[in-house]
Amino acid sequence: MQTESHTHDSPPHETQSGVGRTEIDRREFAKGATGLGVAAATLAHGPFVRTSKAADRVVRYAMIGPGSRGRRLLERHLVHMQHGECVALCDIYEKNLRRALEVFDNAPKGYTDYNDLLQDNSIEAVLITVPLYLHFPVMKAALEAGKHVFCEKSLVFTPEEVHALRALHEERPDQIIQVGLQRRYSKLYQRAKQLIDSGAIGNVTHIQAQWHRNTNWRRKASQEFEDQFNWRLYRKYSGGLCAELMSHQVDVADWILDQHPRSVMGVGGLDYWRDGRDIYDNINLVFEYAGGQKLQYSSIMTNRHIAGRRVPGDGCRETILGTDGAIELTLIPYGDGMLYRDVMKVKMEDQAQQENDGENWVAGATVGMDTAEQGDGFPIDPEAVDPNAVGFVEKELFFARTWAYNKGILRPTEDVDPEYAELSSFLTDVATGGRPRADIEVGLQDSVAVMLANLAMDQQRKVDFIEIEQMGGGGVQMSSAPEAGSGA
Ligand SMILES: NC(=O)c1ccc[n+]([C@@H]2O[C@H](COP(=O)([O-])OP(=O)(O)OC[C@H]3O[C@@H](n4cnc5c(N)ncnc54)[C@H](O)[C@@H]3O)[C@@H](O)[C@H]2O)c1
Repeated sequence: MQTESHTHDSPPHETQSGVGRTEIDRREFAKGATGLGVAAATLAHGPFVRTSKAADRVVRYAMIGPGSRGRRLLERHLVHMQHGECVALCDIYEKNLRRALEVFDNAPKGYTDYNDLLQDNSIEAVLITVPLYLHFPVMKAALEAGKHVFCEKSLVFTPEEVHALRALHEERPDQIIQVGLQRRYSKLYQRAKQLIDSGAIGNVTHIQAQWHRNTNWRRKASQEFEDQFNWRLYRKYSGGLCAELMSHQVDVADWILDQHPRSVMGVGGLDYWRDGRDIYDNINLVFEYAGGQKLQYSSIMTNRHIAGRRVPGDGCRETILGTDGAIELTLIPYGDGMLYRDVMKVKMEDQAQQENDGENWVAGATVGMDTAEQGDGFPIDPEAVDPNAVGFVEKELFFARTWAYNKGILRPTEDVDPEYAELSSFLTDVATGGRPRADIEVGLQDSVAVMLANLAMDQQRKVDFIEIEQMGGGGVQMSSAPEAGSGA
């Protein structure tokens, strides 16, 4: 089973002709290309450029818990990396251990107890892909054994663990803790962030995100293995939809807005998949940020339809709404992003201009306000260059590529899968002492959002994020089960 998944399954140069995108005229094209160029300049000089040294040695690493996610990371990505060597694998479920060992022709050493694996002093780094409720105990043991850690999201499970992991990190700040929030490593998302920071859509006031599916998450399991295989369905092991899906998207919102929420409220229900599970199967949340910005979030398990969807796959998307336009993003099934200028805003500016000139606005307008259409979108090119900073040939190629993207003849793609990028970057950071983009604070804040969103739905109240500071010492109960069908 995969929960999130499959960011880049399609061929890298798959075209997207015939997707119903209207043609843009030369003026719009030039505007779009220039806008992209401006942001490309930010790309070259802005704060998001990482100048880490190239790894000049091979990092010896191990993985603990190579189940569905772990094996995917091993066989799709890690096995192809020259700057890392998988020397040990550990899983309590021998079938999964065997499958993972086969990825490396049985070269790594196999363990069924991670404490034994951690005694190998030649292992520098550990990748942790066990179920959520085990992230912290395994991470703690790994950090105490002197290892650098990559741990899947969401980073920790309880308020106690938020404080305890921060304390552990403060005692050993040189040991890396990276969380598996791969959107931070996506060139498409980085590019969108640069466009937004350069003012391409004005002031961001709202973000809408959703992850809708028609799936039940259930794995076939005998009674003996029910909890082990279906840990995701039970609150004592899992943070449900908030942890498994929303965690990625609230992190995108935090990143875009450069802040964390100050409160959350929401409604969750267990209304359809009443098969003994106790997590919500549908959630609706509103996060509020300090500047008044809102993240409206929804995740359901009964329908994956997504309005205006241009690409196949999950009903997964983040829409960033600014005062001058919008950006739509998804990483599923592959990275896709569009920038839309707000036609209504443009019309209003035209109107104001014409009134100033003493002209008749209605006569001068091609479309009245009441019929203003959604603006034509510009595909976001994750590989864009600054046309003012490159040579003639590269500049021509950039404009040609942009033209083809806007015509729908080509689809922009990022050259490296973000999952590959996050893992490769982790190994490089271990070798060079670099700092991850998705570092411990990113991971902890993300986990807090997961915990407090669940709490807000459980207790049917607005939860302030500051409350996390009082939790964890006092043993706040986060996980009381909802009554099936109660809608809460
Ligand atoms: N970043 C992403 O896009 C993404 C995608 C999918 C899953 N995940 C995360 O990855 C984690 C794992 O999810 P999954 O779907 O692979 O779960 P899974 O159940 O398929 O795999 C977990 C593995 O851990 C093993 N395990 C359990 N207890 C263990 C222990 N004490 N010692 C060693 N191994 C142990 C299990 O036997 C299993 O093989 C979750 O936190 C999930 O949220 C992240």
